[in-house]
Amino acid sequence: MEIIELVFATNNQNKVNEIRSILQTPFHVITLKDAGIDIDIPEPHATLEANASEKSSTIHRITNMNCFSEDTGLEVFSLNGEPGVKSARYAGEGRNFQDNINLLIEKLKGKPDRTAQFRTVVSLIWNNQEFLFTGICKGRIIEIQKGSEGFGYDPVFVPDGSDKSFAEMTMDEKNKFSHRKKAVVQLIEFLKQKVL
Ligand code: IMP
Repeated sequence: MEIIELVFATNNQNKVNEIRSILQTPFHVITLKDAGIDIDIPEPHATLEANASEKSSTIHRITNMNCFSEDTGLEVFSLNGEPGVKSARYAGEGRNFQDNINLLIEKLKGKPDRTAQFRTVVSLIWNNQEFLFTGICKGRIIEIQKGSEGFGYDPVFVPDGSDKSFAEMTMDEKNKFSHRKKAVVQLIEFLKQKVL
């Protein structure tokens, strides 16, 4: 069987682990570290789509290989879609996941509507052409964080259809609901039609 190599344009090891649990043989995910690329990929744009495109095109320029990136945001409805594209830097540059969670819980105090969604946009560059795929996971933000798995906002996000936060789930359980999984399944279906 032909192996399909794809460079994944991220420095986030949590994302690499999740993507590798989804993209299995015949796909082979090459990380930036594997490819010997040590750069901070810019995310300067106002939309997830534009940031995902920027990341994949940056890495495509460097490697000239088929590659993909993803950009994800947590969109909270009563906060007009915040933190959205700013999810990584919600509490400011140089702040950590816990600071971001604390700010989110603070902003939601007293708000009855705690519904939210994670939205992932994957940008694939395949044979020099770009294709976008989107995955959404709907759920709600809980008042007190729970669980220690995963990353980012996982301890405060409970997906619809579960009582557990993402941080209380194994990776396989999270993948049953996850935005990232949904987007990557579309990428897989697309590539299967192209090459398998
Ligand atoms: P980016 O796609 O690297 O810009 O990620 C934005 C931020 O969203 C991350 O730093 C995390 O805080 C958060 N995030 C992205 N994906 C997830 C997830 O699956 N669970 C929890 N938080 C996430």
